[in-house]
Amino acid sequence: MSGSTQHWTASRGRALRGTIRVPGDKSVSHRAVMLGALAEGTTRITGFLEGEDTRATARVFEQLGVRIETPSASERIVHGVGLHGLRPSASALDCGNAGTGMRLLAGVLAGQRFDSTLVGDASLSKRPMRRVIDPLSRMGARIDATGDGVPPLHVHGGQPLHGIEYTLPVASAQVKSALLLAGLYAKGTTRVREPHPTRDYTERMLQAFGWPIRFGPGEAELEGGHVLRATDVAVPADFSSAAFFLVAASVIPGSRLTLERVGMNPRRTGLLAALRLMGADIREENAGEQGGEPVADLRVSYAPLHGAVVPESLVPDMIDEFPALFVAAACATGTTTVSGAAELRVKESDRIATMAAGLRSLGVAIEETPDGAIILGGPLEGGRVDSHGDHRIAMSFAIAAQVAQAPVRIDDVANVATSFPGFVELASGVGFGLEPG
Ligand code: S3P
Repeated sequence: MSGSTQHWTASRGRALRGTIRVPGDKSVSHRAVMLGALAEGTTRITGFLEGEDTRATARVFEQLGVRIETPSASERIVHGVGLHGLRPSASALDCGNAGTGMRLLAGVLAGQRFDSTLVGDASLSKRPMRRVIDPLSRMGARIDATGDGVPPLHVHGGQPLHGIEYTLPVASAQVKSALLLAGLYAKGTTRVREPHPTRDYTERMLQAFGWPIRFGPGEAELEGGHVLRATDVAVPADFSSAAFFLVAASVIPGSRLTLERVGMNPRRTGLLAALRLMGADIREENAGEQGGEPVADLRVSYAPLHGAVVPESLVPDMIDEFPALFVAAACATGTTTVSGAAELRVKESDRIATMAAGLRSLGVAIEETPDGAIILGGPLEGGRVDSHGDHRIAMSFAIAAQVAQAPVRIDDVANVATSFPGFVELASGVGFGLEPG
C-alpha cells in the first residue's frame, strides 16, 4: 500500500487504564467473506475487521461478481453466489498485504472454470507460495508463480481436482485452509494432517455453513460435492490485536486495563501462557461464547516480568505474537529464549531480523538464532527503528517506546491499517504516548 514513509513518534505515556474493545478477528473476517461468497443465500457478518487485509479480500470477491453491502464499518452483507457462481475478473485480483487472503484464494480459485491472477504488495510479493502450490498441484490444480515461487500467481481454471491425503511439512493454518477450500471442488476425500494443531476457523466455519467435515486437533477431512448454506457470522475481537495491550499493560508500571470480549480460541492464546510463565498478571473474566467461538474479558495489571524459555509447543498458538513477546522479554529481568519459530522469517517481514535490529538500536542485547532469539532484558534507550512495513512490528515498538528512556521514532507504519485500524487513537486513549508523524 502507499504511504510507506509514514512514521510515528512514540514516547513514555502514563499508566494504562480503562476498558477497551479491539477490532474484529482478521482470520475469521477473511473466512466469513469467502464462505459467505461461496454459499447459497445471504450471510450477515457482524464485528467484521474493517482493515486493509480483509477489505482486500472483500474487493476480490466483488471483482469475482459477488455483491457485498457495507451497512456499517463493522458489518458486511454478502450475497452468496454458490460454489459455482463466481465470474472471471478481467483484471488481476489484489490481495494487498494479506498472506491469508492470497493463500486461501489460491485454493478457491484452483476449483474454478476460469483463469485468475493474484497479486500483492511489495511484502506479499516476497512471501513463499510453493507451500500451497505444491499440494494444490497434487490435487490437479495448475498454478504458475513467479521466480522462486512468489506472487503474482496465475491460477488456471478448468482443471478437475481430486482429493489427496497431505501431511503439512510446517504447521500452517493458511496451507491447511487452502487445501480444504480446494477440497470443496474436488472429487473424493481431502485429508490434511499437521505437525502441530493450528487455528481451526476454516473447519469450524465450514461446519457452520453446513458442509460435512470431520476434524480434530491436527487433522481435518472433507469430501467435495456438497453445498454451503449462508449463515450469520459474529466475529470475536482479535486476540492478536489484544496482545499488544496485554504486553503493554504488563510492562508499564501502574497499569490496569480490561480488554472486552476477546476471542479465546485455544489455538490463538499461546501468548497468555508465555506471559504467565514470565510472571504476568492476566485474568480471564465473563467467559462466554460468540459466534461459536470462546470469548472472555481479559484484565491485565502491571507485574514485574522475568525471562523464560518459551516452550516450542506454544509456537503455533502464538505465531503472530512474537514481536510483542520480544518486547516483553526486553523489559523482563534475565534472559528469554525463543526457538522452533523459523516461520517468523517468512511473515510480513523477517520478524526475527526486524525485531533484533530494532531492539538492538534501543540498546537491548539480543542474539538471533535461525529459529528464534535469545533476549536479555534491560533498560531501553530512545532512538529510531524501522518496522519494514510490518504492522505487528510497528505496534510492538510503540509498546517498547512506553518504557524507553527517550522518544522512539518508528518508520514505515502505514500497514498498521491492515489489521488494526484506529490503533493510535485507541492506544493514546488508554495512556500511550504516541503521535503520528
Ligand atoms: C493465519 C495463519 C497464520 C498467521 C496469519 C493468519 C490464518 O499463518 O500467521 O496471520 O488466518 O490462517 P500460517 O498459517 O502461515 O502460519
